[in-house]
Amino acid sequence: MSAFLIEKIKKTGKGKKMKKITIAIDGFSSSGKSTMAKDLAKEIGYIYIDSGAMYRAVTLYAMEHGLFNGDEIDVETLKSRIQDIHISFRLDLDTQRPDTYLNGVNVENKIRSMDVSAKVSPISTLGFVREAMVRQQQEMGKAKGIVMDGRDIGTTVFPDAELKVFVTASPETRAKRRYEELKAKGQEADYDDILKNVKERDYMDQSREISPLRKADDAMLLDNSIMSIPQQKEWLMKQYLQAIQ
Ligand code: DC
Repeated sequence: MSAFLIEKIKKTGKGKKMKKITIAIDGFSSSGKSTMAKDLAKEIGYIYIDSGAMYRAVTLYAMEHGLFNGDEIDVETLKSRIQDIHISFRLDLDTQRPDTYLNGVNVENKIRSMDVSAKVSPISTLGFVREAMVRQQQEMGKAKGIVMDGRDIGTTVFPDAELKVFVTASPETRAKRRYEELKAKGQEADYDDILKNVKERDYMDQSREISPLRKADDAMLLDNSIMSIPQQKEWLMKQYLQAIQ
């Protein structure tokens, strides 16, 4: 981060308790919003919640409990078990990143697999799944001081968030990012399959009936197709500093 911004943060915080706000970061899949959100949260000492990880964890639960028959979901059984699906986040002391836990088990790697990516959109269209997740997310954000990323954070989960950002980038840029992310973790990856998955999820996320992906009217738009991670980080920090003024 530039010396200018570091100085500005120090000045903003000097002599007074900094006001805690709610930060909602929405956008398309693999748009880099999680990286931005995580980095900002770490920098300013806020809680970070990846709401997509919660829908992924529900999907993993359904897969591991035989609730998928091909692409078909056993909706009634999932509905009857939704209250038994407990999702939490715990800081990984090595990576300094929050890991996702499903009923007490670390599922951080499993939920990022292509299998889960291919099945998560239909799960996230189910009304009772969304209701349960939104309730948990609102509970997590009660005390403010939170950065949450997802699809409906600025529109449904925290419509009153003081800072809302909507992130986008071209489908090709996003597929390349996910491809590199999976490769770096030593997981199987095929660029064409990923691009197809990105486009399918864009369509499903935007066209679903409940809480479709859309920019909140009062959200700031960021197209980061040609921005580096440090540039995005700096941009977001500036928006945060303005929001707490
Ligand atoms: O951000 P992600 O790709 O990990 O999200 C996984 C899926 O979860 C994605 O297809 C859309 C869905 N999702 C959602 O419907 N609402 C959210 N707030 C976050 C994610």
